[in-house]
Amino acid sequence: MSATVPPDPSRSVTITTLQSAKAVHRPIVMITAYDAPTARLVDEAGVDVILVGDSVGMVALGYDSTLPVTLADMLHHTRAVARGTKRALIVTDMPFMTFQISAEEALRNAGLLIAQGGAGAVKLEGGMRVAATVAKIVEAGIPVMGHVGLTPQSVHQFGGYRVQAKQTSAALKLIEDCQALQAAGAFAIVLECIPTELAAVVSQEISIPTIGIGAGGGCDGQVQVFHDLVGMGGDFTPRHAKRYAEIGDTIRAAVEHYAQDVRDRAFPKAAQSTAMDPQQFAEFEAHHASGICDIADSDAGTEGG
Ligand code: KIV
Repeated sequence: MSATVPPDPSRSVTITTLQSAKAVHRPIVMITAYDAPTARLVDEAGVDVILVGDSVGMVALGYDSTLPVTLADMLHHTRAVARGTKRALIVTDMPFMTFQISAEEALRNAGLLIAQGGAGAVKLEGGMRVAATVAKIVEAGIPVMGHVGLTPQSVHQFGGYRVQAKQTSAALKLIEDCQALQAAGAFAIVLECIPTELAAVVSQEISIPTIGIGAGGGCDGQVQVFHDLVGMGGDFTPRHAKRYAEIGDTIRAAVEHYAQDVRDRAFPKAAQSTAMDPQQFAEFEAHHASGICDIADSDAGTEGG
């Protein structure tokens, strides 16, 4: 099999599929979704992994960061994505403070995202410092994806959303973090906003797949935020994203057109409306004009026709 062989569309994606993809150098495609219709579209497009990212807080819920996102938010959005997905593996993010306090609490929360949310795996941010927690969750039979580099839940510690591990010591530490996650049983690792060369070295050195975002082309796969790719993220496009469509412009134009049609009384037309049977309407008008309301209507309670 070569890198150009597409995934088998008839088979559900599992963590084994992703591990095989790395073995045959088939790039893994991952994208975010937060609701059922988007999940259905990206699943039909043939992505391998749908990430219910805690980026939902910024791109769909209007927060300035991912920090306010709760477990309840993630459960709500993961369930919606699960209802729209047939084939892709659903990975859901463990939000801020749902895995840091203790490994037991992390396991309980990961279990809820799987059992009640319908995810196939969870993702949590951090390297060595979360390795014991990752091991605990994996031992319970829940697949875990790691996430290192620019981990947005640590935005205050980083002093902003900046590329990480540009200096030698930080680059060496990042490799150790990835090795610790692999040893803890993580099935894949997201590498976010780190230098291309470093991501390529990590991808060669560890045996589990790396999924890059702002980490260059040397990773085993790529992940992007749906809204950034389709032009629904407003004017700002992160440096690592490429806009493949301008859906935001299309939606705005469609709604402007709708608003104009309503104001011009050009919408709705007969095609979008339901007419009453002329005989029924004539009868109705006669009764209405006479002021008698309590007629024994032989059609009472029936609909359609
Ligand atoms: O929440 C998210 O969308 C993510 C990706 C940026 C990897 O974690």
